[in-house]
Amino acid sequence: MRVAVLASGGGSNLQAVLDACREPASARVAVVVSNSAAAGALERARRAGVPAVVLQDHRDATEILSVLRRHRTELVVLAGYLKLVPTEVVTAFRDRMINIHPALLPSFGGKGMYGHHVHEAVLASGATLSGPTVHLVTAEYDRGPIVAQWPVPVSPDDTAETLAARVLAVEHQLLPAVVLAAARAGGVVRLLAGGSAFTVAADPARIAELAVPAGRIQSQEE
Ligand code: GRF
Repeated sequence: MRVAVLASGGGSNLQAVLDACREPASARVAVVVSNSAAAGALERARRAGVPAVVLQDHRDATEILSVLRRHRTELVVLAGYLKLVPTEVVTAFRDRMINIHPALLPSFGGKGMYGHHVHEAVLASGATLSGPTVHLVTAEYDRGPIVAQWPVPVSPDDTAETLAARVLAVEHQLLPAVVLAAARAGGVVRLLAGGSAFTVAADPARIAELAVPAGRIQSQEE
């Protein structure tokens, strides 16, 4: 499965996907796209020998679609992509575009909920659980059907930074697991956390072992 990764920042999630997609994996990163020439993700792409594209105008659906089509994209992964994806692109890749969010949606999502804002809101709420969510991208921010999420405990002495780091370690396991499961199934499949999912905070590498595929997922019934 040919995967396009869109990223605005450092690209540690991109790196996790690149590492998981080494031969003979059934998925490969065909192109990395960013709205920002300064994104660390672009350098990671170049180092991995993957084409890196900087968008001239992130609002231009035609430009984005032409990049995705030129690289024969079958799955789009938003990994720390901070711009709204134009509706035409979302429609063209319906059920074939996923996003990773660093909290348990549907809470702590929506406009303005990115980066440290998310973790600060989790801490302010008093929630004792957080964790990443992978979801299908629809026209509304952070609202598409949930593909996979994994619980991470919040500690009483957490700061936004310590919580972000604990969640990020799990993101780096969860996102590749979703991408590889999609590649194997020929489309995005829901992954369920297996019995002892809570232990993952101590050992995120166990996600691959504990995640249970639970069927294809679509944004709407046909
Ligand atoms: C991650 O926390 C992801 O959940 C969010 O943006 C961050 C991206 O980090 N959407 P990185 O660029 O992958 O390191």
